[in-house]
Amino acid sequence: MVGGLNKMLIFDDIGGDFEGRLRSCRMAYRTVRVSGEELTLSTGEAIIEAKFSLKVLDRLHEPAYIGIKRMTSNGETFLVYQTTGVSPVHFQMLGMGINVPKVIRREFLETIDRSWGTSEETWIDILAVPTGYRMDIVDGYPRFERSNLTPLVGGEAKILSKEAVKAFLCVEKGSEVGEIKGLGIPLTVKMDEIVKYHSGLFGFTGCGKSNFTSYLVRQALSFMKNISVVIFDVSGEYLIHLLDLEPEFISTETFDSADKILDAQAIPDSLEGMRGRMKVLIESLISSRKIERLLLNSETDFSLDDLYKFFESLVEERKDAEQAKVAMRRLDTFSKNRGYSHDKLLKEIADDGEALDELLKIIEEFKSMIHGMGATWKRLAAVEKFITDRSLDVKSKGSVLMPEDLARRAVSEGGNKVFVVYAPEPIEARRAVSRFVKELLLLKKIMGYKRTVLTVLDEAQEFIPQKPTVSDATEESNRAVESLLRQGRKYRANCWICSQRVAHLNTNALQQLHSYFVSTLPRSYDRYVIAEAFGLSYDLVDATVSLETGEWLFVSYRATKQKNVPVFIRAPNNEVILTKGLADKT
Ligand SMILES: Nc1ncnc2c1ncn2[C@@H]1O[C@H](COP(=O)(O)OP(=O)(O)OP(=O)(O)O)[C@@H](O)[C@H]1O
Ligand SMILES: [Mg+2]
Repeated sequence: MVGGLNKMLIFDDIGGDFEGRLRSCRMAYRTVRVSGEELTLSTGEAIIEAKFSLKVLDRLHEPAYIGIKRMTSNGETFLVYQTTGVSPVHFQMLGMGINVPKVIRREFLETIDRSWGTSEETWIDILAVPTGYRMDIVDGYPRFERSNLTPLVGGEAKILSKEAVKAFLCVEKGSEVGEIKGLGIPLTVKMDEIVKYHSGLFGFTGCGKSNFTSYLVRQALSFMKNISVVIFDVSGEYLIHLLDLEPEFISTETFDSADKILDAQAIPDSLEGMRGRMKVLIESLISSRKIERLLLNSETDFSLDDLYKFFESLVEERKDAEQAKVAMRRLDTFSKNRGYSHDKLLKEIADDGEALDELLKIIEEFKSMIHGMGATWKRLAAVEKFITDRSLDVKSKGSVLMPEDLARRAVSEGGNKVFVVYAPEPIEARRAVSRFVKELLLLKKIMGYKRTVLTVLDEAQEFIPQKPTVSDATEESNRAVESLLRQGRKYRANCWICSQRVAHLNTNALQQLHSYFVSTLPRSYDRYVIAEAFGLSYDLVDATVSLETGEWLFVSYRATKQKNVPVFIRAPNNEVILTKGLADKT
């Protein structure tokens, strides 16, 4: 090694302008009430005083990691702090309350204005919180390890360089989740751990949750093998967000054309011009039978009456109405001859071979009279499937499936798969999630399927509210998702949760997440719940208020190089990736 030329530049002194020392440090506590419960939050609060410089001030408006030099009995080390805020101070500001007469105040202010950077009476206060790590410099390279050493007041402060932060936080050959704010270098993480240990994304509406979740799904698909991602989408965003990946689209609604599907989905403004391409892709999904219907009625409670209602609805909607009337007349004769009442279960009819044949003939005849690819045909195919094929065949790509079938497909298909489950009606969505999760866990436990299945719940407050009730099916979904979070890890059944209302979420569920991304949460109690659930400094969580769309505070016990060191990142825009993906497709 020659004179350190090849060594890493560990500190960035901002062109020689940065000079700072630790002025104070303490633990601070705050007690708050959230939903009637008292929470005590804490933060380690350090104030570093730095020489005033506009360059330093500008740089520190973005987050930075700072090492505070500390002598130990074994030599020197640096305690690593993370900045949460910055404020320029002039000595005269301190004594200038509003009780000072106005003329004198004005004079003070003019003096202050002139003296920024020129007088010894100005400086910068940097607020920082401990990361819990120390950095030792060994042979010119930084080495990080956990430490609970307290700093000593007066210790010299130095800003960590890009290279040092990279060595501190970035996983080699990891998956990129965004750029580290203030440094512009990619943050690389262990994607498999983000999947394996469940993750959460929290931020108020419009902060970019669905956009970023879509990006993370892409990363999971490209970094992992043999994974099924099943996204439950109540707001109709993900088919478009992931369209270039040609996901399977499974919907509780029926659509009879690509246009109708597009109309029901949220299309980001930046992609309006791509409608034509999207339509072509959706048409190709239809023709490759990747668009399917999700049915929530179970075979056991399907009765003749449901069949009547189905035909009646066609008459009402004037879709194949004449044919439906004919079918209803046949059904009438069938029921009368056999002595069946309307509530006769189809399952029971199926037990009698002759009756089954007769019923299927009625359905077949009806099918032969209507348009083969329309929505009616598909809905009817479901009924037929119930009666004839109760052990649903995983490999056959029927056009209709139940949540249990989806679970079976998710655990058993090969390659990487994305399923977007569009269920705009919340009660239906909750029932679908509950049944899917129950079957998934059962299949995993009993049949021992090894394949990773990642369930993504956007708008998670719909599924795991703090106060669930039976009537709206939240009780059921809450229980299912909680068991997925508690038990799933062992079986490679994982879950990501996105929500805007943290304070209204089931806290037991929250505590199962090992990685989380937090964007702006304008309500303080939402932030406090995050701080408490994940043991974060409230100063740090409060700093999320000034994040912009697509910016996140990321913390993880597992996926980052160091446990639980928060990083502010700027996420890539999924719309840009999608636009390129769509352009490449056609
Ligand atoms: N990384 C990003 N870069 C630039 N713009 C972004 C980014 N992420 C999201 N946006 C923009 O922000 C808007 C909202 O994004 P998105 O729909 O993902 O938010 P959301 O948090 O899911 O909102 P909601 O709670 O309403 O579902 C979109 O118009 C999108 O263009
Ligand atoms: Mg969203």
